[in-house]
Amino acid sequence: MGNIVLDYTHAMADVVGSTHGITAAELDGLAGASKSALAAVQARRTKDLRWLDLPYQSAVHEQVLDYADRMAGRFENVVVCGIGGSALGTIALQQALNSPYHNLGASGRYPRLFVLDNIDPDLIGEFLDQVDPAHCLFNVISKSGTTAETTSQFLIFQRALIERLGRDAHVPHLCVTTDESKGVMRDIVRREGYESFVVPEGVGGRFSVLSPVGLVPLALAGIDIKGVLKGAADMDERCKAEDLRANPAQLYAALQWLMQSKKHKPMSVTFSYSQRLALLADWYAQLLAESIGKRKDRRGRDVFAGPTPIRALGVTDQHSQMQLYTEGPHDKWFTLLSVDKSDHAVTIPAAYADLEAVSYLGERTLNELFAAERDGARVALTAAQRPSVTVHFPKVDPHSVGQYLQLMEIAVALCGEHYDVDAFDQPGVEAGKIAAYALMGRTGFEAKKAEIESAAPKQQLRV
Ligand code: PA5
Repeated sequence: MGNIVLDYTHAMADVVGSTHGITAAELDGLAGASKSALAAVQARRTKDLRWLDLPYQSAVHEQVLDYADRMAGRFENVVVCGIGGSALGTIALQQALNSPYHNLGASGRYPRLFVLDNIDPDLIGEFLDQVDPAHCLFNVISKSGTTAETTSQFLIFQRALIERLGRDAHVPHLCVTTDESKGVMRDIVRREGYESFVVPEGVGGRFSVLSPVGLVPLALAGIDIKGVLKGAADMDERCKAEDLRANPAQLYAALQWLMQSKKHKPMSVTFSYSQRLALLADWYAQLLAESIGKRKDRRGRDVFAGPTPIRALGVTDQHSQMQLYTEGPHDKWFTLLSVDKSDHAVTIPAAYADLEAVSYLGERTLNELFAAERDGARVALTAAQRPSVTVHFPKVDPHSVGQYLQLMEIAVALCGEHYDVDAFDQPGVEAGKIAAYALMGRTGFEAKKAEIESAAPKQQLRV
């Protein structure tokens, strides 16, 4: 078990120049505000920011592990029905901590894991065509218990199960994770007698991966959730340090704020040099975008704040987006995710000794090539005065991934203080949900429907 390391050398002015890099004076000048931001966030730990304490909820962890134990070997497939914060963490950790081919080989104790975080009829219809619900455990996850996408998935799979198995026998195939008392999913749990877990108060969707939202499906799929939680708890301790340069969350939040406010970089690219960590960038994109992307500041003034998160994968995107990143507008800063030690070492065979463009690869490893490409990308970005930080994972394991989750959650909470926005609401997401209710003809939303339908006439070109 090792600590992840945040290397910010290449974000600093002495390396990329003061137009694009942060000067020591700028960073240290933020120390006071950063310390206050930390105090403000930590003061809410036992009040409304209960997600900070998720790594320590050992009774809940035991309850989840007990359920996973009881279900072991009973299902071929675990199917998560959920969206946004109810899905992205699970998707990211499944990719990071299970084999990329887990779903090919899964059998026996640990089932395949599918996260259906969309309602595209071709996604759900094809699933119904291909998979026998009798072999599935459906974990329906919705904090609010009212999200139309998740409710529809629940209704579809519940009907499929009842038709296949009958009313009584379908019950053990459903497990619901939702609010303790609010929302219609809790009413349904009571009526049907489904197994259920609680999304605790003070844990918003995008901060919920370490609650039963993520823990239940991940434990079912065989992931070492205790290792993840230990990593998060260790990082939580490190993120209590008052000194800006000793606290990785303070440091990352300060860099994000300075990059946008002082260096005019509204785009934040998470560039994963690890296939396994790639979807952590998707999880972080939601965390950053939904938390900081706000029209109003905390005094209700229009500010239209927020960085735009971008996800990239090395080396794949070196052959796609790198041209833009090194020569396009100076509007981005980069966070490289890097892994010190892979689980595998793959040797490239020697061949064609007379062809130098091939032979130099012989007897070298993919590990060496991957590292050279990653370091080469950072060198190219630096030469083009594009600031970057690197998050070094000693290896991809539950402990390091847990550290990353807690680090970024706290950093984003601190960003809320720097940007002076409420990092824990999502009025823009709710607006979309309300418009969808109206368009589906839900009672109580008639005025919204009329408003949408009276909007400007379509302008279309039929081609
Ligand atoms: O982070 C959030 O709050 C959102 O992305 C929600 O997770 C998403 O809208 C799903 O909501 P719910 O879990 O209430 O169904």
